[in-house]
Amino acid sequence: PKLVVTNREGETSEIDVENGLTVMEAIRDNGFDELLALCGGCCSCATCHIYVDGSETAGMSEMSEDEDDLLESSDHRKETSRLSCQVPLTPELDGLKVTIAPED
Ligand code: FES
Repeated sequence: PKLVVTNREGETSEIDVENGLTVMEAIRDNGFDELLALCGGCCSCATCHIYVDGSETAGMSEMSEDEDDLLESSDHRKETSRLSCQVPLTPELDGLKVTIAPED
C-alpha cells in the first residue's frame, strides 16, 4: 500500500510500503528522522505519535488501552492521534495520509 506522510516542516511525500509493516516502520525506514520511535514499536514510548488525516479509518487497527494511556501523556493529542507503531498497513489502508505530530 501507499502511505502519504507530512513531516514537521509541512512537506508531503508518498511512500510505497510493504504489506503488514506498521506506519512507524514505514516512516522510519524511508528516511524520516523525525519519528524517534524510541521503544522500537512496543507501545511504551509515545515518540511515534502521528495524526491520521481525513476520516479514512476503515480497516485501521483498534486503539488499545495502553496506546490510549500513552497518548494521554502527550501535550499534542488530538482527536486523530495514533501511535504509528500500532497501526499496520493493509491494502485496505492504501493511500492513508498521516502527519507526524510535534515533539513533546
Ligand atoms: Fe514506541 Fe510506538 S515506537 S510507542
